[in-house]
Amino acid sequence: MGHFLIFFMVLIISSISQLYSQIYSQPRLDVVERNCSSLVVHNSSAYTMNYWKAIQQIQQGVLNGGFGTGSAGDPPSKMYVIAQCHGDLSMLDCRICFEAGQSILPSCLPHIGGRVYLDGCFIRAANYSFFHEIITPEDTLICGSTKNNSRAGMTTRLIQNLIKEAPSNDGYRSGKDITEDGEVFALVNCWKTMDNKSCSFCLEKAASSILSCLPSTDGYALNAGCIIQYSDDNFLSIDRQEIQYAEFYTWLVLFVALIIFGALVITCCVCVGKFIINSRNKRHRNVKINGETESDLSIFKRSLRFKYSTIEKATNDFNESNKLGQGGFGEVFKGCLGDGREIAVKRLFVSSTTQSQDVVNEVNIISLAEHRNLVRFLGCSLTYKDSLLVYEFVPNMSLDRFLFDPEKKKELDWQKRLGIIIGTARGLKYLHTDYKVSIVHRDIKASNILLDLKYRPKISDFGLAKFYASEKIPGHETAKIAGTLGYMAPEYLGNGQLTEKVDVYSYGVLVLEILSGVRNNKFGSDDSLSTLVTSTWKHFQSNTMSEIIDRSLEIDNIEEVLRVAQVGLLCTQEAALLRPTMAEIIQMLTQKNSPLSQPSKPPFVDECMELSNYSNSFRKQADSCKIDPNQR
Ligand SMILES: *[C@@H]1O[C@H](CO)[C@@H](O)[C@H](O)[C@H]1NC(C)=O
Ligand SMILES: *[C@@H]1O[C@H](CO)[C@@H](O)[C@H](O)[C@H]1NC(C)=O
Ligand SMILES: *[C@@H]1O[C@H](CO)[C@@H](O)[C@H](O)[C@H]1NC(C)=O
Ligand SMILES: *[C@@H]1O[C@H](CO)[C@@H](O)[C@H](O)[C@H]1NC(C)=O
Ligand SMILES: *[C@@H]1O[C@H](CO)[C@@H](O)[C@H](O)[C@H]1NC(C)=O
Repeated sequence: MGHFLIFFMVLIISSISQLYSQIYSQPRLDVVERNCSSLVVHNSSAYTMNYWKAIQQIQQGVLNGGFGTGSAGDPPSKMYVIAQCHGDLSMLDCRICFEAGQSILPSCLPHIGGRVYLDGCFIRAANYSFFHEIITPEDTLICGSTKNNSRAGMTTRLIQNLIKEAPSNDGYRSGKDITEDGEVFALVNCWKTMDNKSCSFCLEKAASSILSCLPSTDGYALNAGCIIQYSDDNFLSIDRQEIQYAEFYTWLVLFVALIIFGALVITCCVCVGKFIINSRNKRHRNVKINGETESDLSIFKRSLRFKYSTIEKATNDFNESNKLGQGGFGEVFKGCLGDGREIAVKRLFVSSTTQSQDVVNEVNIISLAEHRNLVRFLGCSLTYKDSLLVYEFVPNMSLDRFLFDPEKKKELDWQKRLGIIIGTARGLKYLHTDYKVSIVHRDIKASNILLDLKYRPKISDFGLAKFYASEKIPGHETAKIAGTLGYMAPEYLGNGQLTEKVDVYSYGVLVLEILSGVRNNKFGSDDSLSTLVTSTWKHFQSNTMSEIIDRSLEIDNIEEVLRVAQVGLLCTQEAALLRPTMAEIIQMLTQKNSPLSQPSKPPFVDECMELSNYSNSFRKQADSCKIDPNQR
C-alpha cells in the first residue's frame, strides 16, 4: 500500500515538474563566443587541478544566486574563475548553462583558460585576478548576417533605455519593444563584480559598439565586464519573478496533494523529495549530453551556424528512419529545414576535447570549399559531445549503388560514366590545387561520389579523413591511416606517406571500377586474390584490355574507352612520382589527341614479380603467386 502511494505521488509530481520544465526550461546553451587566452600553461596538471578547485568554490554561489567567483592554487598556476548567468535564466537553467560552460574551458589547453559566452551564461578563467576588468582588447562584437532597416530606430531606443536602468537594477535589464515595424528583444547584463559606475561605463561602451551592428537583425557585444544582446527573435527566458511564481504554484499543488494523501505520505516525503531531485538531475544531465554546448563558432561566419535544436528538429531527433548511412567518421542523416531545404547531416564520432578543437580547425578549412563537383557545405553545429556538419542533400544515391547493382548500372551509359570520371577529376583538382589550402581527400571511392539527378558527380567527405575511426590495418595497430583498403596507395598504406598522389591512386581505382562495373577488391574468384587493378594491368600487357569493360555498356568508340582505362592504369602506378596530377588527368581525358604515356606496373602485382624484372621466364611463375594486398 505504502509503495503504491509513493508510486502514485511520484507520478503526479514528475508529470507536474515535467510540464513545468517544458514550459519554462530554456537554458540557452549555444556558444556565442569562445576565446582562449594566449598564455600557455606552465604546469598543466596544476592548472587543471586549480581550475576544478575554483569551479567547486563557485558552484554553490552559481546554483543559489546565479553568480560566483573563486580562486585556487599558487602563482603562476593560481586560477581565478568567474561565472554568471544572465538575469532572465531560472536557477535550474542556470545550473545547466554553468555545467556546460565549465566543461568547455578545459578544451583551451594548452592555453590557460579563456572566456566562454554562452547564450545564457558567461564563464571566464585566467591565472590572474581579472574580476574588475571592464573592457579589454579581446572584447568582441558579433553581428548577425540578416539585415532589416525597419527596426533600427526602435532597437537603438530600447538598448539605450536598458543600459540606463540596468546599473541600479543589480546590473541586469531585459526588455522588448513591439510596434508595427516589428519586434525587438534585448538584454543587458553586467557581472556582479562591477559597481554601478563600472557597469554604466561598460554598458555604454558595449552599446556604442553594438549599435554599429544595425541594421543587422541581431547582435552581441561581449565585453570583459558586461554583455549586450539584441535580436528580432525572442531569445529571452521568462522573467525570474514569473519563474518564481510558477515554482511557488508547483509547490502549492504538491502541498495540496500531500494533504490529500495524508500522514503516510508525509512521513515518506523526505524520500520522495530525494527522488524528485534525482530524477530532475538525471533529466538535466540528459539535456546536457544531447545539448547545445557549441564549442567554438565565432571563427565561422555566423551564417554557417546552425542551432543544435534546428538540426535536431530537421532530422526528427536523429531518427533511425532518417539515417542515410554510416561511415568511418560517423553517421549521416537526412533532414529537412524549416524553409523546406533538404540537408544531409553528418554526425562525427569525436570524443576528446582536443579532437573537438581539431574539428573546429578542419571545419574552418573546408567551410569555404565550393565547387560544382563537391558536395556543398552549408554549416555546422559543434557541441563538445557532437560535431554536426550540414551539407546540401544530393538526391540520387552514391555511385556504388548504381555501379555495382546489375539493374541500376544500366542507367549509367558511357557518356554518363565519362561525365562522372571527368567531373570527379575536376573536383579533386580543385581540392588539390585550386582551393586556398591543398586538401588530400584520402578516401576517394565509389561510395563517396554522390550523384545528382543528372548523374553529375559530387565528392563528399573531403577534409574529414582526420576523423575516421582509425581502422585496424594489419601491422599498423597505431597508425592513423584513413581510407579504404583496395583504394589505398601503397606508399600511404606502407608508411603513411601522404601526398595528392594518394588520391590519384584511389581515383585510378575508381576509374577502372566505373569502366568495368566491378569492385576492385571483389574481383575474381575468392582464391585468386588478384584485384581489378592487377588484372587490368595484365590485360593491358597482353593487349586484351577490352575484356575488363562492363558488358552492360553499349560502346561505339572502344578507342575512347580504352584510352580512359589507360589513364586509370597511369593513376594506379606503384611509383607515386609517375602518377599524373589531376590537372594532367583532366587534360588526358578531355583532349582526345594528347599523347598518353605507357603505364608502369601497379603495386601488389606480385612480390615475385618485383624480382623478376618482368622477364618472361618469371612471369609464368609470378602468375601463380598468391597476392594479398592486405599484407603490404
Ligand atoms: C606541477 O604541479 C603539480 C601539482 O601542483 C606538482 O606536483 C608538480 O611537481 C608540478 N610539476 C612541475 C614540473 O612543476
Ligand atoms: C600566468 O601564466 C603565464 C604563463 O605560464 C606566466 O608567464 C604568468 O606569470 C602567470 N601569471 C601570473 C599572475 O602568475
Ligand atoms: C581572441 O582574442 C584575440 C585577442 O584580441 C583575438 O585576436 C582573437 O581573434 C580572438 N579569437 C577569437 C576566436 O575570437
Ligand atoms: C547602485 O546599485 C544599487 C543596486 O545594485 C542600488 O541600490 C543603488 O541605488 C545604485 N546607486 C546609484 C547611485 O545608482
Ligand atoms: C523587415 O521587417 C519588417 C517588420 O517585421 C517586415 O515586414 C519586412 O518584411 C522585413 N524586411 C525584410 C527585407 O526582411
